[in-house]
Amino acid sequence: MLKIENVSKDYGDGLIFESVSMQVKRSEILSVVGPSGSGKSTLLNIMSGILKATEGTLTSEAERLSYVFQEDRLLPWITLKENILFVRDDISDYDLTHLIDMLGLTGAENKYPAELSGGMRQRAAIARAFAYEPDLLLMDEPFKSIDYYLKSKIIEALIKVWKERTITIVFVTHDIDEAILMADRILVLGDKPTRIIKEISIEHPRAVSEREQLNIRKSIKECWEEI
Ligand SMILES: Nc1ncnc2c1ncn2[C@@H]1O[C@H](COP(=O)(O)OP(=O)(O)OP(=O)(O)O)[C@@H](O)[C@H]1O
Ligand SMILES: [Mg+2]
Repeated sequence: MLKIENVSKDYGDGLIFESVSMQVKRSEILSVVGPSGSGKSTLLNIMSGILKATEGTLTSEAERLSYVFQEDRLLPWITLKENILFVRDDISDYDLTHLIDMLGLTGAENKYPAELSGGMRQRAAIARAFAYEPDLLLMDEPFKSIDYYLKSKIIEALIKVWKERTITIVFVTHDIDEAILMADRILVLGDKPTRIIKEISIEHPRAVSEREQLNIRKSIKECWEEI
């Protein structure tokens, strides 16, 4: 679905990435974990084509791309519902109501972004991304400011949508457990300039035993300690 080859990025202040290559397979959920400042958002921006790499190539087969940015980026002058309709004005009332309900936003449809909590705004941004019906969904720490219970519900809903449609998801987080819960495969970023220091294929995706989760968490932490 998407391939980057030998990508380097320098904002003018030294290299962030040096010669990073990776692929995202069609219909997989790929989690990318890395410490703060390791370049996760930069990587997603390069994948989306918003940001040009200093060197290297991006090949993407995506036809409909949704991007949940690290900040919600809602339009402040229109309501939550209008923000969703902005990307997809032909969505049926039924689908819109279902989507809003799925993200726990029922009752807030006619509120403006400034009237919503941080977590509600983040969920509205996720609703907007779903509404567009992407074939590639990029998500940059989408569950921050969302409490554990709601986060589990949203992950469940996300997986349901993912199962129903052919959708490829790249999910960036610094929360290892979130990454394990969602992924078919995890890429671990580290070092400076950043590189992919480990790739983990999950044996039983989205049905990870506690033991496997513990082992994966341990192996990620160990490789961060080693660098
Ligand atoms: N527009 C920019 N101009 C210059 N430097 C930038 C720019 N955007 C990011 N950087 C630098 O690139 C590095 C990686 O930033 P990036 O935002 O990609 O990291 P991140 O892994 O997403 O961090 P976080 O987990 O805190 O969101 C940082 O050192 C940051 O200062
Ligand atoms: Mg970031």
